[in-house]
Amino acid sequence: MVRHHALVAVPVNPIILFASSRRDGNTGALADAIAKGLRAEVVDLSALQISTYDYAHRNRDDDFEPLMARVLDCDPIIFATPIYWYSCAPPMKVFLDRITDYLDLPDLLDAGRRLRRKRAYVVCTSVREEASPHFVGAFQDTFEYLGMLFSGVLHVDCTDGYHPARHHALTQDFVDQVARTGGDG
Ligand SMILES: Cc1cc2nc3c(=O)[nH]c(=O)nc-3n(C[C@H](O)[C@H](O)[C@H](O)COP(=O)(O)O)c2cc1C
Repeated sequence: MVRHHALVAVPVNPIILFASSRRDGNTGALADAIAKGLRAEVVDLSALQISTYDYAHRNRDDDFEPLMARVLDCDPIIFATPIYWYSCAPPMKVFLDRITDYLDLPDLLDAGRRLRRKRAYVVCTSVREEASPHFVGAFQDTFEYLGMLFSGVLHVDCTDGYHPARHHALTQDFVDQVARTGGDG
């Protein structure tokens, strides 16, 4: 059977959510390379005021809901973070925790349902050959819980740092994959 979909230009409207303890480090450079290839925006979560999850929701006036309004208009969503102790960078964890607001608060429930069926990718760097399965698994389980479609991981081994030329082929493959399958639901 002929597969036509690879020939069809698929509209993609990606957003890259980025967290790291340094904007100009390995993950930042990788996120920028992907952003260039996809013509997507990199949102630096550290640059926003997003406070940790509050059971009493006393933080509704911070930058989280305006950011989510933008994220909910995008597909796919690309989560870019270094691996820090088998987990993501803290601002990414705070972002993920705050998605709980969209499951808790009656006035946000409908908006939160818009996450369903959105494609989610993970972009990460570490100093190992492979991304830790615990790190990947936490994202995978979170996306599954939210009804999102876990669509792929790009991991770059930055034992010797991030080198745009050396890592170009890997990055380009990822960009092509996202562009091919990114937003066709
Ligand atoms: C606090 C901290 C924890 C780290 N934990 C891990 C780890 O668990 N596994 C790993 O392979 N690399 C680990 N690393 C190395 C980073 O993942 C790696 O250097 C990464 O490319 C850094 O990206 P950045 O420049 O965006 O911070 C850690 C680095 C730091 C600073």
